[in-house]
Amino acid sequence: MMDESTRKWLAEQARAFEKSGLAEQAPRLQESGIAEQIREADSLKHKVEELRDVADHARLAAQALTLSNELAKSAQLASEVAQVTDNLRQLEQLRVHNLGRSAALTEMKRTIQRLPVEVRPEVGGTTNRATRELEQVISARAEQITAEEREVQLREDTVDVTLPGMPFPKGHLHPSMRVMDDVVDFFVGLGYRLAEGPEVETDYYNFTALNIPPEHPARSEHDTFFLDEGLVLRTHTSPVQIRTMLAQEPPVYVVCPGRTYRRDSDPTHTPMFHQIEGLAVDRGLTLGHLKGTLAAMARHVFGEELKVRLRPGYFQFTEPSVEMDLSCFVCGGNDPNCKLCKGAGWLEMLGAGMVDPAVLEEVGYDPEEYTGFAFGMGPDRMAMVKYGIPDLRLFFEGDLRFLRQF
Ligand code: PHE
Repeated sequence: MMDESTRKWLAEQARAFEKSGLAEQAPRLQESGIAEQIREADSLKHKVEELRDVADHARLAAQALTLSNELAKSAQLASEVAQVTDNLRQLEQLRVHNLGRSAALTEMKRTIQRLPVEVRPEVGGTTNRATRELEQVISARAEQITAEEREVQLREDTVDVTLPGMPFPKGHLHPSMRVMDDVVDFFVGLGYRLAEGPEVETDYYNFTALNIPPEHPARSEHDTFFLDEGLVLRTHTSPVQIRTMLAQEPPVYVVCPGRTYRRDSDPTHTPMFHQIEGLAVDRGLTLGHLKGTLAAMARHVFGEELKVRLRPGYFQFTEPSVEMDLSCFVCGGNDPNCKLCKGAGWLEMLGAGMVDPAVLEEVGYDPEEYTGFAFGMGPDRMAMVKYGIPDLRLFFEGDLRFLRQF
């Protein structure tokens, strides 16, 4: 058993070490201090048990008093080491061995009734005080350690709001969408309204109402994807013209962007592609209005450098019909083997014309009173021209290395 001065020295050393900042020494010292104190507390328990065998009244009284003082000192040492530990598990060990069900102090309290009456108050007082004080020290220290741990954790968990954030990847529009937006903006600026229609169309809207009757050879030029029950994937945006005219009276000024489908695949054709339809029906509209409108649109989208030309065309639902071409951006018309324009020097950009009177009649407009013009253009192909992309198929492969360039 440690003597008084050794214990004090030990406790002081522990505190001194803690204060001196030699933190790495402290745990070892605490450990040995705790081990020592526990050993002592346990050995005191045997002494308490031995008390029961003491028959001599006076000796029992004297030993009980001495023992209760030793218990109090042992508890005091336990408080001291408890105060310098920063380990909850060690605290719990101290509590179990000093205050637990089979600890010496507890055992002593159980033994009190067997002690001579005259020493009971003092033994009881000493052991109760020791118990209460140690309990307080241990629970206060436990609270302190928990709070310190929480503080350390909070400090480690702090968010540095000055750190740069994680960059959120920015998306951007597909080149076809940019051209579509550009074209639609232009027409909306002229007072056109946006109109849309379904991609799965009936044969009637896609062909018949556009003056392309069943069995007419013009249908085969469209390389149509046929669905069940007279439905098709629309081969152009022109059915939106019909839907618009059937739904309203003239004047009509609409622009209709959307996806269209044909069984076609080469560097300038993909099975899914985009079109933008335009339709104007009013009193007194002429081919001159059509030409002026489309030329202004081409200048808006491409700037002044690229050349535009109109040449006669043929569409079942316009009369007369024209096609508008843009000069080839790859060869400028100088390479007979050009992969893009195939030596033509021009790229087909859109089809247009004056709405055929038969179509106006079909939707219940009076062709004597109203005339109109219509046009359909391919924003994908326009994007190829605008951004210098030689293969249309790149647009729809979803390869980010390609898409990130725009
Ligand atoms: N719909 C036609 C096509 O897909 C283009 C067009 C639209 C022509 C409107 C004239 C008027 O080829």
